[in-house]
Amino acid sequence: NLYQEKRRPQFHFTSRRGWMNDTNGMVYHDGKYHLFYQHNPYGWKWGNMTWGHAVSTDLLHWDEWGDAIHPDQMGTIFSGSAVVDHNNTSGFQTGSGEPLVAFYTSAGNNGQWSRGEPFTQSAAYSYDGGRSFTKYEGNPIIGEIAGGTRDPKVFWHDPTNKWVMVLWIKEDIFSLFTSDDLKNWQRRSDIPGFFECPEMFELPVDGDPARSKWVVYGASGDYKLGDFNGTEFAAETEKIKYEYGNCFYASQTFNNVPKSDGRRIQMGWGRGIKMTDMPFNQMILFPVRLTLHSTDDGVRMFANPVREIANLHNQHWRSSEKLVRPGENPLSDISGELFHIKAVIEPRGADKIEFIIRDTAVSYDSSAQQLSCNGKSAPADLENGKLTLELLVDRMSIEIFAQNGRIYMPMGVDLTGGPKSLGFSSEGGNAFIESLDVYSLNSIWL
Ligand code: FRU
Repeated sequence: NLYQEKRRPQFHFTSRRGWMNDTNGMVYHDGKYHLFYQHNPYGWKWGNMTWGHAVSTDLLHWDEWGDAIHPDQMGTIFSGSAVVDHNNTSGFQTGSGEPLVAFYTSAGNNGQWSRGEPFTQSAAYSYDGGRSFTKYEGNPIIGEIAGGTRDPKVFWHDPTNKWVMVLWIKEDIFSLFTSDDLKNWQRRSDIPGFFECPEMFELPVDGDPARSKWVVYGASGDYKLGDFNGTEFAAETEKIKYEYGNCFYASQTFNNVPKSDGRRIQMGWGRGIKMTDMPFNQMILFPVRLTLHSTDDGVRMFANPVREIANLHNQHWRSSEKLVRPGENPLSDISGELFHIKAVIEPRGADKIEFIIRDTAVSYDSSAQQLSCNGKSAPADLENGKLTLELLVDRMSIEIFAQNGRIYMPMGVDLTGGPKSLGFSSEGGNAFIESLDVYSLNSIWL
């Protein structure tokens, strides 16, 4: 039974077969979220890089449509992005449908047909909603710059009426390019401080569009905030740490999400989540909504699981206004594999409070005000004496969100060997549960 293998994540996207890494070409088009991804169709390890393709109408259920962009004599197909060319600025449109235009790196010298070819940037377009792409006959759109230059992220910039590309050039340099037609690109300026997989977008601060900031980040997700005038990014901060887990890498956000929705939605690669003995390898993290908020430390980017997760809720257990004494486990009745847990807890007299997810602990040390899981830790200061925690539990991961998304800690962890039980405990004193909601989740594959 497809998607029912032992280690198959049950509410995260994985490819049916083969290796996968970065998310690519993330774009909303015609009622569907399109997720392309780095795919090796022919092996369990990295190689033969091709763009795989899956679509979803609800950010939960994914339908794998088959590989969309295949290696050629210019190289294998490395990471990149996609846009909808509403006004046919590219001239790629022939019929009535708006073309989807993809930008990727032709990884010359990688693959048997491209020996001796350089790394360049290419474009391809689709009229059938991304099922098939035609490579632009004028490729490459950007020739060789440095040895491994890659990962073009393209987006529309309304105030200047231009397309913008952020590209990783080499070492710690991103460059900004602009274009009127998606084919001819002018290099405008550099942004120092980032490695691989550029991403860049504008977000309101505290929901106020009049106080918006631009966010720039690379593969690690660590970001700078600043201003962007269409050709230059003026950083206003140092690099700020984004996530504290063991697996987040090479993410993107969706282009072209309708204004009526307005969310900035990110999906990253859960790097290193090894699918032992499975016909597939690696997974994609659950989509998160990114927002900017003022904090004591300045403006920070928060990540929260998209609200659609509620559509997978099945059984619900709730406790509230409850004192937990050492030795008690208020979750002892619950068992299962897939959970969404939301908790607001006052550690009070407890030195440590802990969720035990099957055989893995997610702990909070009250004196250090620190959250930890499997050797990773994150600072999480209590707010009015409270810890707010949200956990997404699948077979191969626990995604931890603390203090309303200020702390994001996605953890790859193979839970399949453990018991199907849950625990909550308080050590060294009593903790107070203000509210604790546990939802079991339905599988997206059933
Ligand atoms: C990041 C990365 C990208 C590259 C891709 C190749 O994980 O190295 O820079 O385009 O993977 O698969």
